[in-house]
Amino acid sequence: MKSSKETRNTTPRRTFLKSAAAGAGLLILPSGTRIGAAAPSNKLNIALIGAYGRGLAFYDVISSENVVALCDVDEDHLAIAAERFPEARHYVDWRRCLEQDDIEAVVCCTTDHTHAFVTMWAMNRGMHVYCEKPLTNTVAEARLVRETYLANKDKLATQCGMQRHAHENFNRVAELIRDGAIGTLEDVHAWGDRQLPRPGYLPAEGEPPENLHYDLWIGPASFHPYNPGYFEGRPGMNCLQWNMYWEFGSGQIGDMGSHTMDIVWKAIKAGHPVSAEATGDPFNPEVTPVKLTATWEHPANDWRPAIKVTWHQGGAMPTSPRNYVDLEKIGHGAMFRGSKGVLVSDFTSRILIPGVDQADMTYYTPRSEDELIPPLGHFQHEWIDACKGDLKTTCDFDYAGTMTEQLLLGLVAYRVGEKIEYDGATGRVTNNAEANALLGREYRDGWVLNG
Ligand SMILES: NC(=O)c1ccc[n+]([C@@H]2O[C@H](COP(=O)([O-])OP(=O)(O)OC[C@H]3O[C@@H](n4cnc5c(N)ncnc54)[C@H](O)[C@@H]3O)[C@@H](O)[C@H]2O)c1
Repeated sequence: MKSSKETRNTTPRRTFLKSAAAGAGLLILPSGTRIGAAAPSNKLNIALIGAYGRGLAFYDVISSENVVALCDVDEDHLAIAAERFPEARHYVDWRRCLEQDDIEAVVCCTTDHTHAFVTMWAMNRGMHVYCEKPLTNTVAEARLVRETYLANKDKLATQCGMQRHAHENFNRVAELIRDGAIGTLEDVHAWGDRQLPRPGYLPAEGEPPENLHYDLWIGPASFHPYNPGYFEGRPGMNCLQWNMYWEFGSGQIGDMGSHTMDIVWKAIKAGHPVSAEATGDPFNPEVTPVKLTATWEHPANDWRPAIKVTWHQGGAMPTSPRNYVDLEKIGHGAMFRGSKGVLVSDFTSRILIPGVDQADMTYYTPRSEDELIPPLGHFQHEWIDACKGDLKTTCDFDYAGTMTEQLLLGLVAYRVGEKIEYDGATGRVTNNAEANALLGREYRDGWVLNG
């Protein structure tokens, strides 16, 4: 059970709040509880960075809190958010926003290539963070974000926006796998069918509109000229206008891969892989592959042998376990193969196929009701409650950071075109110098990741 609102955790912003409150004429009680007209009790001071698009999905959730800051590179988007949160201060540059001293928690819904930046700056300032998926845009960023979270996990609540994790099907799948419903786990597959082919970065076209701070949108990426095509998607789907370009995103392995691999990740409890290899479309230096198959090897752990995990996208698919099961009908799915059967899952449902003559199911005992993994409830509220309570969430930056590191390592293997051996303890590829150079990225002058 999460702690109730009444047991809100002491925040690392305490010191600041004391001095700010003194200036604002507020009284701070020794327990850290603020009272005063401007400080409704027990509400979080939240900044929403990326205030439209996916940000819209947070309006209702954060409206129960104090939304004290809004940031968006598009002033028209800021104006929409300001109508809903009239008390908040406005920013176009998230670095200035994070200087606002009363912010306790940040929701980040910006482009993928800025996730790690906003997240690092916020955690470095003692702010809780909810960051949209994919958590980062490079392997090195994923490691830094995870390590920083782990060093601060007694102070910070974090959550990565893999909200499908709240589907109870994720729990049921994990239970079936862990309890041996398919026998000994042998290998695992996840896939996504989305295809968004692009030839390369969009050509220069016109000038950015006055409301858009295009240079801030580019942020730490190399400069690419403005084209309205990066911005013409509908709210919450505009990421599909830019997330296939290497500098701005990681394509479908990061996008839907973050959601779909989560079904797998919850069940297999994998740490770092020891290898990665991938094949797909011919390499394009500007655009991530549409078609891709990436495979990672995971060593044995205390409940299963070594396994292979494979991601398929853009037309690549695993082989169906039986010709009467058409995996192509499942747009985003996962398949677990074991010694006695197969489990196929989408986000909300699953089918179990005892696969061999001996698979009489006598080896499997379903859990009693009180042994089931409990539902986590509302995914975004889980984070808000954690900020005020025990700091624990299901998709924290340890869980999501490790998974994102693995997914993005698959793209590194794809780029070098051969199997790479990976040392998860050091975050280094041990057999390929070129791959090591691709774990991180150069940033544009003036942009500091760990700021
Ligand atoms: N969890 C999910 O199901 C889900 C669904 C959709 C999108 N997303 C994620 O949310 C993020 C945003 O996606 P989107 O489709 O809303 O994209 P978008 O291009 O519409 O951007 C969202 C908002 O952020 C603003 N923005 C962009 N860069 C910014 C910056 N550097 N600083 C401040 N504001 C900035 C944009 O102007 C826009 O208002 C992506 O990372 C995407 O993967 C997650």
